[in-house]
Amino acid sequence: MNDKKRGSFSGHIGFILAAAGSAIGLGNMWRFPYLAAQYGGGIFILVYILLALTFGFTLMTTEIAIGRKTGLSPIQAYKVLDSHFGFLGYLTLLVPTIILPYYCVIGGWVIKYMFSSIAGTPGMADSSFFGSFIGMPSEPVAWFLVFLALVAIVVVSGVEKGIERISKLLMPFLLLLTIGISIYVITIPGSMDGLKYYLLPDFSNFSLKTVCAAMGQMFFSMSIAMGIMVTYGSYTPKEVCMSKSVNQIEFFDTLVAFLAGLMIIPAVFVFSGEEGLASGGPGLMFITLPKVFDSMAGGRIIGSLFFILVFLAALTSAISVMEAIVSMVIDRWKMSRRNACLFIFVLCICIGIPTSLGNGMWANLKILGMDLLTFFDYLSNSVLMPIVALCTSIMVGWVIGPKVICDEVTRNGEKFAREKIFNIMVRYVAPILLVVILVFYNMAQFGFIQF
Ligand code: PFF
Repeated sequence: MNDKKRGSFSGHIGFILAAAGSAIGLGNMWRFPYLAAQYGGGIFILVYILLALTFGFTLMTTEIAIGRKTGLSPIQAYKVLDSHFGFLGYLTLLVPTIILPYYCVIGGWVIKYMFSSIAGTPGMADSSFFGSFIGMPSEPVAWFLVFLALVAIVVVSGVEKGIERISKLLMPFLLLLTIGISIYVITIPGSMDGLKYYLLPDFSNFSLKTVCAAMGQMFFSMSIAMGIMVTYGSYTPKEVCMSKSVNQIEFFDTLVAFLAGLMIIPAVFVFSGEEGLASGGPGLMFITLPKVFDSMAGGRIIGSLFFILVFLAALTSAISVMEAIVSMVIDRWKMSRRNACLFIFVLCICIGIPTSLGNGMWANLKILGMDLLTFFDYLSNSVLMPIVALCTSIMVGWVIGPKVICDEVTRNGEKFAREKIFNIMVRYVAPILLVVILVFYNMAQFGFIQF
């Protein structure tokens, strides 16, 4: 089933770095801290880690195994495994297509902050800087287009050259810098309350909303339920040790998210007080970190370096999102890579420009009461990804059987240490929890229930 013409990673390290490069991105640096701030700090982290160890591990293993076994992108892989599940490929294609435009909008914000830090633009540390920037009529759109164009250039140039090369250079630096900044932040007087909020789970902050938010974040952050890991699995040589890879990807992804929160949340307490937690929302990273850099000696250099690395992390992730879409379009509609990229590029422009303007000129354009960015984030993370995950677990647990996945994991004689947990998760826990989340969260969203 393996098509010889497909690109492939150059072995275990190449795969791990590319997959980690995909997983570690804006989800870790931008999305995780503001959700942790909003949904109870320590309790959110606890729930997130529990979900990552059970759910995340199950779904990531499943997706990589499906990709490697079939050697196909999701649009064909699900159909080959069971003819009734062909629709799942199309559903999967929808998720990255919705995410990519708004992801590039935020990537554009990062470019703005990167250049402003390098140039030492005055006023970056003011709380109003972010709001007035995203409300501008043309600048955020221009940066969005720059970011998108960069992503498209790398994807046009193919798998190994583009993705591996960038990922290999980046990860260790980002990790070290994040550790350094977190250490600085927790030494600032007044950060202790923030640290406690972030590290000590307060069970009175727990609600089903915490679980929903953590679950959506896990899909987003680990690049699962959207075809990326299936696609990367299809580029993975058979000798790659799968459970070890999954453990390593999960570990680094969670570590970077955790450190990003450690860097941002105590700083929110120092510079904006506890009220800053809820009011920050998606702007939290952009509002808080410039204040941190402003307060440190050498802050301009550290700040510039930081935003350069976040930009590169966002780029490798966005590349993986676009790569997933492109590979599906190529496989399904037999387009050339170039044409597929062009098609997606144009589509992203059409969706991304209104999304970018949604914080300014087009702020009145609302869907279900949400601005476009929030709406696309909601639609992908809280509706479509749980549906894709639900269908995948039903297919694997009850139709083709978990053994198909376990056999793929163990095909090199490798041991599958968590096989038992995997079977229980994929057959019982995942489908039940996903249905509960989908139903209750969406009912709450539309005001039918309150929790
Ligand atoms: N997982 C990456 C991140 O956390 O930024 C990139 C990403 C991939 C985000 C796919 C969202 C997504 F749907």
